[in-house]
Amino acid sequence: MDAIVMLKDEHKDLEKLFKQLDKDDLSVIPAICSALTLHITVEEQVFYPEINKRTDVEADDIAEVLQEHHLLKVLVEEIRELTPEDIEYKAKAKVLTELARHHHEEEETELFPEVREELGRKRLQEIGGKMEQFKIDVAKG
Ligand SMILES: [Fe+2]
Ligand SMILES: [Fe+2]
Repeated sequence: MDAIVMLKDEHKDLEKLFKQLDKDDLSVIPAICSALTLHITVEEQVFYPEINKRTDVEADDIAEVLQEHHLLKVLVEEIRELTPEDIEYKAKAKVLTELARHHHEEEETELFPEVREELGRKRLQEIGGKMEQFKIDVAKG
């Protein structure tokens, strides 16, 4: 599968979970934390290193994406240390989804179009294959 199509699908799946939280369904928060963590891990371990290697996308732009990931990961860690009874549990989860939405929007409107133009379909499918394999390996532990 095309790497960018795969990542956009994951953004869509995440958005479905975010919508549940919009309705104040706090039971979805652990699922948000694990799905977002897996998504970020695949991007950091496979997608962005390939982009770095194979395109002229500015290192600065990738560094900014990674900084946003960093903030998302810190929030996930903090949420995991709390329980639904903590007043900050929902607050942190709401901020997490706001940041993630902003982040996904930036990836989709700024970075992905540039990457697609530079790499083309065949290369993107190759990278997508590596990402799929990575997810299989993660699932196996
Ligand atoms: Fe990302
Ligand atoms: Fe993403």
